Amino acid sequence: MKQNQTRYRQQFHIEPPSGWLNDPNGLICANGIYHVYFQHSPVDPNGETPRGWGHYFGKNLLELQYDKDVLVPDIPEDRNGVYSGCAVEADGVIHIFYTGNVKHEGDYDYITEGREANVIHVTTQDGSLMSEKKVVLRNADYPDFCSCHVRDPKVWFENGKWNMVLGARTRTDEGCVLYYSSEDLENWKYEKCDSIPDFGYMWECPDVMTVGGHKYLSVSPQGLESEAYRYQNVYQSGYFSYKPCLCEFKEWDMGFDFYAPQSFEAPDGRRILYGWMGIGDAEYTNATIPLGWQHSLTLPREITVSEDGNLRQNPIKELEHFRVGESRLSDKECKEITLPFDLVADTKNAFQITLSDKLTFLWDGEKALLAFSNQEFGAGRTKRKALLPYCENVRIIADRSSVEIYLHHGSMVFSSRMYPEDDKVQVAVSGLEAVVYQLKK
Ligand code: FRU
Repeated sequence: MKQNQTRYRQQFHIEPPSGWLNDPNGLICANGIYHVYFQHSPVDPNGETPRGWGHYFGKNLLELQYDKDVLVPDIPEDRNGVYSGCAVEADGVIHIFYTGNVKHEGDYDYITEGREANVIHVTTQDGSLMSEKKVVLRNADYPDFCSCHVRDPKVWFENGKWNMVLGARTRTDEGCVLYYSSEDLENWKYEKCDSIPDFGYMWECPDVMTVGGHKYLSVSPQGLESEAYRYQNVYQSGYFSYKPCLCEFKEWDMGFDFYAPQSFEAPDGRRILYGWMGIGDAEYTNATIPLGWQHSLTLPREITVSEDGNLRQNPIKELEHFRVGESRLSDKECKEITLPFDLVADTKNAFQITLSDKLTFLWDGEKALLAFSNQEFGAGRTKRKALLPYCENVRIIADRSSVEIYLHHGSMVFSSRMYPEDDKVQVAVSGLEAVVYQLKK
């Protein structure tokens, strides 16, 4: 048992009990139970061992219970990893689709040769006990222009049939998505490919979603050039509008820690999205690694559409049930607040919020900036900037080792891990008055 296992443990965010977590997978509510799966390397907090799917479940998205790794690499077609995928329900049965990753031994580049990407189908009644695995698509079923990087199936029902989207890299290093269709969830027919020129070499984790009657494609492109106010992380994730061609890519999150989101529709019709609150190959690190685990998912966020067609993200309303004590911070005031907390404020002019003088968030009327001034607090994170012409309000959900900053009704979000010494931070505000609620389970 490692020392201090509770230090930095998140209260409202999904984390691995041990080891490494990355993408949210298989999000679904079936037979009244929510299931949240995630990419999991249970023994290695650096994620170097083959991944399976960890499983949380429960009646309420903010009080899920951990089950176990319900899918692990145990057939030749997924021997190097049960990679990302999705879940859909048909006649009370949950159907899971994921990528079985296989790397052949030999002198390969693993881009154009040496790798298998199998789409594998399993079913489950309770979300935990899985049927036999069945391969439904193999490399030979992908178009000839694709490299061996094809993965992350997302399935949905539309126009009387099942549809699947897969993320891919072409042999000429362009990111794209492939669409397949099926009548029975077993036999899949290739339909078409979508891409746009010069927009990264690989698109991971695609997701097709309809929100407020508009259709969007979410993808996580790799290979975009960083700009002063956009694309500042090593890889990006965002969404296109289908009009009907792909256009107007908008990043989901402008912070340090966000990648590979997936959405699902809740029984009440809400579109809910989780992201991985982490990213691969970053220059910064996480203080939990010596404690035996790494990474977290974001809060579940409700996605809505604003008048201009852009999507908004806000913490699901269930979070408000956990608000207990309330304190008020007037302009230029500083108070010690216990984590986790939920800070809300209306904003008119420029404002600044700092946590323990080590994390600063400011909006100057045009631009937003999240900056860490302390190596330990940010574990190597520095600053992230974005253009934001309007900001009528701000909400900060700070958990034990993360912040999510929701701006202008959720039209922009900054997510980041942070590592305070204990469960208290000094919250200082200027340019606004805030209400801070303690969050408690
Ligand atoms: C995204 C990703 C997916 C893949 C999974 C493997 O973070 O690279 O494309 O399925 O992680 O863990």
